Amino acid sequence: MVRLALIGTGRMGLIRMRCMQSLPGVTVSHVIDSNADQAGRLATQWGVNHVASTIEEATSLGDIDGFVISTPTGSHMSIIKDIAKHAPGKGIFTEKPVADNPTDIEKAFQIAKDGGNQICCSFQRRFDQTYVTAADAVTTGALGKVHNVNVIFGDHPCPPIEFLVDGGDIFMDLAPHDLDYVFNALSDTASSVYATGCSSDPVLQEKGVLDNALMVVNMKKGAVVTMQMSRSAVFGYDQRCEFFGTSGSAAVTNPKEHDAVIRSIEGSKTARFSHSFPERFDVAFKKELETFKGVILGKGTWPVSEEECKVVQSVADAARRSYEEGRVVNIE
Ligand SMILES: NC(=O)c1ccc[n+]([C@@H]2O[C@H](COP(=O)([O-])OP(=O)(O)OC[C@H]3O[C@@H](n4cnc5c(N)ncnc54)[C@H](O)[C@@H]3O)[C@@H](O)[C@H]2O)c1
Repeated sequence: MVRLALIGTGRMGLIRMRCMQSLPGVTVSHVIDSNADQAGRLATQWGVNHVASTIEEATSLGDIDGFVISTPTGSHMSIIKDIAKHAPGKGIFTEKPVADNPTDIEKAFQIAKDGGNQICCSFQRRFDQTYVTAADAVTTGALGKVHNVNVIFGDHPCPPIEFLVDGGDIFMDLAPHDLDYVFNALSDTASSVYATGCSSDPVLQEKGVLDNALMVVNMKKGAVVTMQMSRSAVFGYDQRCEFFGTSGSAAVTNPKEHDAVIRSIEGSKTARFSHSFPERFDVAFKKELETFKGVILGKGTWPVSEEECKVVQSVADAARRSYEEGRVVNIE
């Protein structure tokens, strides 16, 4: 049995708990949250014995083979430091991004390396069969040379204003998922980015928070990527990506709640898209943790590298600067 400790019992923490509980060969040995009551409630609900509010406390309660960090991005660095100190050599899975800028990402990876810990950063598109199949069409050359990629990220439901104001920067929160996916599929990175956007709510506007944005990314090998992002896809979680190449195209479309089509004289009706990310990426979230288990057992490799994590955040950061300064930003 691989013993995993869950750190963070919020939105992603609940998803990760469900995934881990369904994985053969895995046991959730510890629940850790700075909010001890919340950690205690989740541990009781899932029959987990050890509850702690810090890594040091958790490691004193029993052995841990790997840590699953599902806390807010700003806390990842100090948690990685604590794991390297109190549990050297153990696996670290973390929600994206490792940190919100490339310098801190490098620091976090260095701290982990010094402790003999490996960081496995989540980017669930890498584990989703639809995204993987479309990327394979690119990497096998089935599409010829890819010149254009069009991405749509429609979030649903629209998060509360407080969330958006506190840490819901559209370039930092949404864009990294598709940047990582497209860069990896094209085996390429950005040479420049232009970004613009708007705020649909006066409070967001006043705080300078965008809930709709568009990015145009020029790739080093010549392809052009457009990314349209919105916080309010009122019709369901809308995640699309289409590659256009000299020999064909590959599209990631949305799975629906069911595939029936009801036709009448008024037109045709189909099911809604998935409600949100927990439903849409249910299988991928599980596959990520299954792969993490393999990494801990020395039977698998993690597909997302430190360099890729840094590149994605540097382009997300450049997009924000492009919007603020109203110009194309070249990427070093
Ligand atoms: N892959 C995805 O689609 C996806 C979706 C949403 C969020 N995320 C990522 O997941 C991470 C967590 O986001 P969330 O929305 O679940 O957060 P959340 O605010 O819902 O939950 C965070 C939990 O962490 C706890 N916490 C905070 N600091 C802590 C610390 N230092 N030690 C222990 N516990 C601590 C809080 O008490 C809370 O219970 C973020 O990095 C975010 O970017 C990824």
